[in-house]
Amino acid sequence: MSRKSSTTESASAAHVTNGAQAGPPVGLPVDLSVDLAPKNKRHLRLANPIMIASGTLGYDGYGRGLTPEMDLGRLGAVIPKTVTRLPREGNLEPRWYPESFRRSLEAGESIMLNSIGLANPGVESALSDLAPKWQEWGTTILLSLSADSPAQFGEMAAMSRGVLGFQALELNLSCPNIESGALFSHSGQLTSQAVSAVKAVTDLPVLVKLAPNVPDITEIAMAAVEAGADALTISNTLPAMKIDLKTRKPVLGAVTGGLSGEGLRPVSLALVYHASRAVDVPIIGVGGIFTGEHALEYILAGATAVQIGSANLADLWSPFRILDELTSLVAQEGVSSLGELTGAVESEVRA
Ligand SMILES: Cc1cc2nc3c(=O)[nH]c(=O)nc-3n(C[C@H](O)[C@H](O)[C@H](O)COP(=O)(O)O)c2cc1C
Repeated sequence: MSRKSSTTESASAAHVTNGAQAGPPVGLPVDLSVDLAPKNKRHLRLANPIMIASGTLGYDGYGRGLTPEMDLGRLGAVIPKTVTRLPREGNLEPRWYPESFRRSLEAGESIMLNSIGLANPGVESALSDLAPKWQEWGTTILLSLSADSPAQFGEMAAMSRGVLGFQALELNLSCPNIESGALFSHSGQLTSQAVSAVKAVTDLPVLVKLAPNVPDITEIAMAAVEAGADALTISNTLPAMKIDLKTRKPVLGAVTGGLSGEGLRPVSLALVYHASRAVDVPIIGVGGIFTGEHALEYILAGATAVQIGSANLADLWSPFRILDELTSLVAQEGVSSLGELTGAVESEVRA
């Protein structure tokens, strides 16, 4: 990982050469910068819209496997793996299917499942041991939090106050509220309670990450925004299962897990499209982004930024390649700033 610091200005001025294509003259910078918290006093200005999704920053979610050549300062932001109030061991093995996301991609396999069970060192260790190191990464970092109750979300956000090493929070609402057993992000009311509890104690920008399997994403999105969410991340993984016919056993130790990757992309894309038309905060699209084209698809659907998840686990260089691909594509679209493409899908319903 890089210890170099990089400024928003230097990284956002991504120079492209777009040959004879329509677009800005060769060599002119394309402005890829985005603000994920335009209504927050602090703002959350990123040099470009490419972020690393929580749980996929290196093989352990906290950077394992990244090399010094992988300059995180080139990316918009990274999100280390979600932390909970207390440390968690995680689920029974196997926690992945298939064992190698890289080989499965090469084989044209589109199912990627995981059931990690939020293995993490706990928020206290994250704040005291990990966050000081994040300061050296030279990029924007978001602290991802998950909790058992709205009050515990508030408690954890309060603990994070004044700690250096991250510039915003992301609330992972794909976790159950222990009082009812329901996932926070399956209920507008629980979503609202969790977001309110956090917003009451922090002035950091707060991104709220939603689950995909809800009847109406706009209801949950609106509840989050009314409670003060600065931006929404859509989406987490989709509940899923696979059985090995030879052993008749589920391939995951926890029996069921979450579907990410190719299969999730069209699902999440539709959710981003609908949510972005229902609320007026930035949406961060996540699910199955492996190329610059996939990232652009989300942006056209209404995303202001995107997160790369499973693609990292197939190849830790993915977000850098996707950034380069997106930079070229944006220039080829004949625009000088990415914002011109956000939500630009031509989607009038045909009669
Ligand atoms: C191995 C693995 C671990 C994950 N861990 C977390 C996590 O700790 N917190 C979280 O909010 N999302 C977690 N996710 C979900 C991703 O951040 C992302 O929302 C999801 O995988 C969809 O994106 P993708 O299709 O690009 O992977 C995890 C995903 C994977 C594959």
